[in-house]
Amino acid sequence: MIKKFLDLGKQPIANRFLSSSEQFKDEYFFNLEVGFDEDTKLVSLLQQPNKEQMFNNEYPYRSSGSETMRKHFQMIAKDIKEHFDPKLVLEIGSNDGVFLKNFEKIGYRHKAISVEPCSNFAKETRKLGFQTYSEFWNDQTAENILASHGQPDVIYSSNCACHVSDVDDFLRCAKGIITDSGVIIIEDPSMEFVLQDNAYSQFYDEHAHIFSIMSLKNILEKNGLQIFKVETLPYIHGGSKRIFAQKKEKGTQLISLSVYDELARERRLGLDHFSTYEQFAERVEKNKNKIIELLTRYKNENKKIIAYGATSKSTTEFNYCNIESELIDYIVDTTSEKIGKFSPGKHIPIISYEKGWNDSIDVSYLSAWNYKCEIMRKEKEYLLRGGKFILPMGNVEVI
Ligand code: TYD
Repeated sequence: MIKKFLDLGKQPIANRFLSSSEQFKDEYFFNLEVGFDEDTKLVSLLQQPNKEQMFNNEYPYRSSGSETMRKHFQMIAKDIKEHFDPKLVLEIGSNDGVFLKNFEKIGYRHKAISVEPCSNFAKETRKLGFQTYSEFWNDQTAENILASHGQPDVIYSSNCACHVSDVDDFLRCAKGIITDSGVIIIEDPSMEFVLQDNAYSQFYDEHAHIFSIMSLKNILEKNGLQIFKVETLPYIHGGSKRIFAQKKEKGTQLISLSVYDELARERRLGLDHFSTYEQFAERVEKNKNKIIELLTRYKNENKKIIAYGATSKSTTEFNYCNIESELIDYIVDTTSEKIGKFSPGKHIPIISYEKGWNDSIDVSYLSAWNYKCEIMRKEKEYLLRGGKFILPMGNVEVI
């Protein structure tokens, strides 16, 4: 049974940045509510917009948009080659190819192909020479791949499985195509980090689920798969976990201690109890009051406030806390697809970093809070001249 614990109100499509004020009036909104499944322990949105509304030929999020993510994908690609020496890697959700680029386009070893429904990005990876299926991941796509390339021995999917409302189907199709000793690697934002950091803005239209290891274990097992290793990625997407899985009956990998450790810690933290999520919802409400109070105080002191990073997470934050352009003048961002547009729902203008980041700024709402370390390093001068960053997650902090 699924029990609701969080209501984040009416929310727009988090990555649908609007080009002009004409688009404001018929913007799509849905109720962003979150529930806990008592049986599988999975945390999911109660309602998710159609997948075509979110993932289409205008998808603006670029995985290669930060140094952190570029390095991250290089490292996992290297690990995959060293540990599994795959002949064929299939990436599900390849975005702009930041992971694929570390593999071969053709050849006997380390060849990679991918699936990416956002055709603007599929075009880019095809141009780079990687065969990319511009389709959603399903039985038909798996069959097409099997017919042309045979069985992959590694499937890698980063920040994608949590986007799919029917995770059972996602896993069933993956199990159906992989070799018997093949490995499925999935990494997504983690429920443990969400609870630890009050990171409620990990909930937005695209994130149909936020996984705990225990929920993944339950779903994988239902589909004949088994987790054999877990890695913690504290700096990725606000805190992620990476799981390595294999066929339960045929897999050849030993089960690492990390699996037992993770499950034991999650039980200690109460991730299997509804009350843990109810308490989280109370903290979220407090966080909202605190952030509004802080921004209003700075505004009353005539400070110039901007936001740093036009993130999907900030769509949830701004719409839930009712933060508009009266409080935040504009958002700076480096992504060409977002510059010159307006944020979803609250319509705060997005301008380029070059134009918008200057000495007149007193306070910056760190909407790209998951890149705190990278941005603090980059913006030392701003901090030295007395500029402030508001960290909206956790207990709301000012740096
Ligand atoms: P991301 O954190 O990946 O957020 P989400 O998954 O919630 O959309 O997006 C980060 C955004 O911040 C992206 O649009 C790029 C931008 N950004 C900058 O403008 N400057 C920076 O230094 C960094 C690290 C990110």
